[in-house]
Amino acid sequence: MGARVLLAGQGGREHAVAWKLSQSPEVDEIYVAPGNGGTSQVATNVPIGPRDIDGLVQAAADLNIDFYLATMDDPQPLGLVDRLRERGLPCYGPTADAAQIEASKAWSKQFMVDHGITTASHRTFTDHREAVAYVESLPDGPLVVKASGLAAGKGALVCDDHEGALAALDLIMVKREFGASGDQVVVEECLQGWETSAHAICDGETAVMTPSSTDYKRALTGGLGLNTGGMGAYSPSADVTAEMNATIDRDVVQPTIAGMAALGRPFNGTLYPGLMVTETGNYVLEYNARLGDPEAQILMLRLESDFFTVCSAAAAGELASVDIEWSDEPAVGVVVASGGYPESYTTGHLIGGLDAIDEDVQVFHAGTKETPEGIVTNGGRVLTVTARGPRLAAARAKAYDNARRITFEGAYMRTDIAQVEETE
Ligand code: AMP
Ligand code: GLY
Repeated sequence: MGARVLLAGQGGREHAVAWKLSQSPEVDEIYVAPGNGGTSQVATNVPIGPRDIDGLVQAAADLNIDFYLATMDDPQPLGLVDRLRERGLPCYGPTADAAQIEASKAWSKQFMVDHGITTASHRTFTDHREAVAYVESLPDGPLVVKASGLAAGKGALVCDDHEGALAALDLIMVKREFGASGDQVVVEECLQGWETSAHAICDGETAVMTPSSTDYKRALTGGLGLNTGGMGAYSPSADVTAEMNATIDRDVVQPTIAGMAALGRPFNGTLYPGLMVTETGNYVLEYNARLGDPEAQILMLRLESDFFTVCSAAAAGELASVDIEWSDEPAVGVVVASGGYPESYTTGHLIGGLDAIDEDVQVFHAGTKETPEGIVTNGGRVLTVTARGPRLAAARAKAYDNARRITFEGAYMRTDIAQVEETE
């Protein structure tokens, strides 16, 4: 009999992983808590939130789950993997101790310093007056002020000068904009360069990088507008050469995995460092301990191997024994969002065109909901339309051609995802 797998989350990432798992002969049933209008097409939705650890542990028992696969960040620092492993359930994902690498920037900065992983120089504070005195002791200039805890990606404030840094300290430490996530604050050097990221599948000892990818964080075409969770992605990245990937593996991924193991916090799950590439080298800005969204959507499209086989080998500490194969074909994912996202937008609009999508194109749902009238919008990022092609331009044309068939009131997409010059 095949496995019964539990996922937690409700994004396009969870739909993509559930879709990939649904093709595995080793998987019988997939449950997604809470899931969305797309996950219900390939899995069973369970109405439990990703921060309800007691609820998830109970559901795992009630549903006879025999594997948990971590995709989103919330449950792991709260100890879901620890609780499930105590009950003998294999998990692909970090324990609460290992998830500190994402959940506490103060901890992860110290970790990087201790293990020779290049990162912006920094100081950590719990006292507002001491933080202010530190900022005032530096020559005036740009600084980055970060709430140490999880802050839904909004806790890093890039400040042009000391006035801005002092205002950021006031916001985080006095006004407590991010609540307890701001109990500790990191003040760091502001780096100049361009950003990229990497993903690695890890079993606590062995880490294997996935192909490179580029995501698009700004809301509007041309890189304008506010930061979002991600408006599209493609893989392999045109910016990341094979040589740079190897450097990131050697200087960031491998020392991170070795360092975590040496601390007795072996890192199991997906490690996703964010990096700044500067004239003096690659700096780690932060670690995420999960798959990126929408990067997961295009990586699942390129993955040729059985993802369940890979994750169960990783859960057992046997990643070195499996080959992970990726398609040579590039993949492109275009997010169709609700107009106004990431600020205010309306939901509940009927989504048209889902039945007009090409058979070899995958539409992964994020903010959607099934209703008796049909599938309606239920969030900011509504869907990711993903396609592969023999070349990036072909994958891009196919993704856009299909994304344009999706209709709902206020639908918006960037028009420049994967618009890069191909070198070959
Ligand atoms: P983080 O949550 O630490 O990844 O920071 C969020 C964003 O803030 C990053 O994606 C960068 O755009 C920016 N950022 C963070 N740290 C720095 C830094 N030291 N120098 C310049 N920009 C930064
Ligand atoms: N694509 C950005 C993220 O997952 O954080």
